[in-house]
Amino acid sequence: MITVVFLANGGKTVTAEENGNLLRISLRERGGIPFKCGGGICGTCRCQIVAGIENTDNIKPKERNHLSEDEIAQGYRMACQTFVLGDIAVSW
Ligand code: FES
Repeated sequence: MITVVFLANGGKTVTAEENGNLLRISLRERGGIPFKCGGGICGTCRCQIVAGIENTDNIKPKERNHLSEDEIAQGYRMACQTFVLGDIAVSW
């Protein structure tokens, strides 16, 4: 199991199966990450992986439509396109 800390939700901390989708974890555990489409289109689920960026999977082409190279370098991801391989802390 892995640990996800939702920093923008009072540091709410949950456990989840490894390799789960970040938005799905947020929905299931009421983590609070904003979303609309769930499919990589709207950009609403933009968030910053404050700790553990190395525990996320590779950036998807859809994410590059909404995130600059600078933002990607700062750990920004789109939650609906991100899979979590280990412990992370996320803000938005
Ligand atoms: S929820 Fe729309 S892009 Fe992720």
